[in-house]
Amino acid sequence: MKKVGILTSGGDCQGLNAAIRGVAKSLYEQFSDDVEIYGIQDGYGGLINGVYKKMKKSDFSGILTLGGTILGTSRQPFKMMRVIDEENNLDKVKAMKNTYRQIGLDCLVIIGGNGTHKSANMLWEEGLNVVTMPKTIDNDVWGTDMTFGFYSAVDIATQVIDCIHTTATSHGRVFIVEIMGHKVGWLNLYAGIAGGADVVLLPEIPYDINKVAQVLERRENDGKRFSILAVAEGAISKDESEMKKKDFKAGRENMPYPSVSYRIADELKAAMGQEIRVTVPGHFQRGGSPCAYDRVLCTRFGAAAARLIKQEKYGYMTGLKNGLIVPVPLGEVAGKLKRVPVDCDEILAAREMGISFGD
Ligand code: F6P
Repeated sequence: MKKVGILTSGGDCQGLNAAIRGVAKSLYEQFSDDVEIYGIQDGYGGLINGVYKKMKKSDFSGILTLGGTILGTSRQPFKMMRVIDEENNLDKVKAMKNTYRQIGLDCLVIIGGNGTHKSANMLWEEGLNVVTMPKTIDNDVWGTDMTFGFYSAVDIATQVIDCIHTTATSHGRVFIVEIMGHKVGWLNLYAGIAGGADVVLLPEIPYDINKVAQVLERRENDGKRFSILAVAEGAISKDESEMKKKDFKAGRENMPYPSVSYRIADELKAAMGQEIRVTVPGHFQRGGSPCAYDRVLCTRFGAAAARLIKQEKYGYMTGLKNGLIVPVPLGEVAGKLKRVPVDCDEILAAREMGISFGD
């Protein structure tokens, strides 16, 4: 009898349930039902506090299209993992190992993004059998061409830009749509291209506000009634890109705006004497049903994870490389960020057809 635990950790995204279903159904097939699956509640929090339940086969039915995660999730910062919780006299790493041993797990399937993979690698190095799957709307996990959740979020963010297009055209306005993605610009780049944005500001390409204003003025002079800027939540200006990390952080903390888009709107208003509207879809981008692409990717990742468990090949993430699902060693994944290469084909194509990156 194999005993496998599953947990989802970090910010949720579309496809988590599809991935849980993918690995669970494949495990029941691979082991001819001779497997017990334990759902760890709320990510590493459940592993630390020993909150889990034995799942029934039926728990994994009817969840392919369901948003969120049936297991719950939480953020447990990696940098705090080895810090003893003095108040509760809690050694978190020891507690996680205890829960693993208490259930008698043969393997733990961990589904998460960047931070999650640092902790997963730590648990693997601590002697637990771990297999992971990469999720996040940000698509910033190293070692995989694609994370699940990304394309579903691209669809939502694109729909937002589409809707803004109709109101912007009608009123002849300039709009900013702020897109999630944390410190990377994948989501904004794809939604910006798919939504036909005129300006796309990414964390990877620091912007010059005067250049952005010039682009908008040129459009106005060409008789265009409206303009749309897709701004990544992590977008930074040229000046900020030259600052020391400490000064940049302090500057952002004291910034009198809820987010960078509002500052850009104010700067453009000053430069152009025109009101700029800001739309922030926020967590909307992580909600709802996974798109068809993500359902397929989750199913493939899930089946691949079960295959690794069957082969007792631990310490790997299932990654997508050149169309194939391959095992990627956790040590290669942990601690790295997959940023948008500034010379990637998507950016070159966007530039060639007139999209400005504000540089
Ligand atoms: O990592 C996914 C993500 O949605 C980012 O795009 C965003 O910056 C962050 O999570 C938001 O985090 P939280 O849900 O904790 O506010």
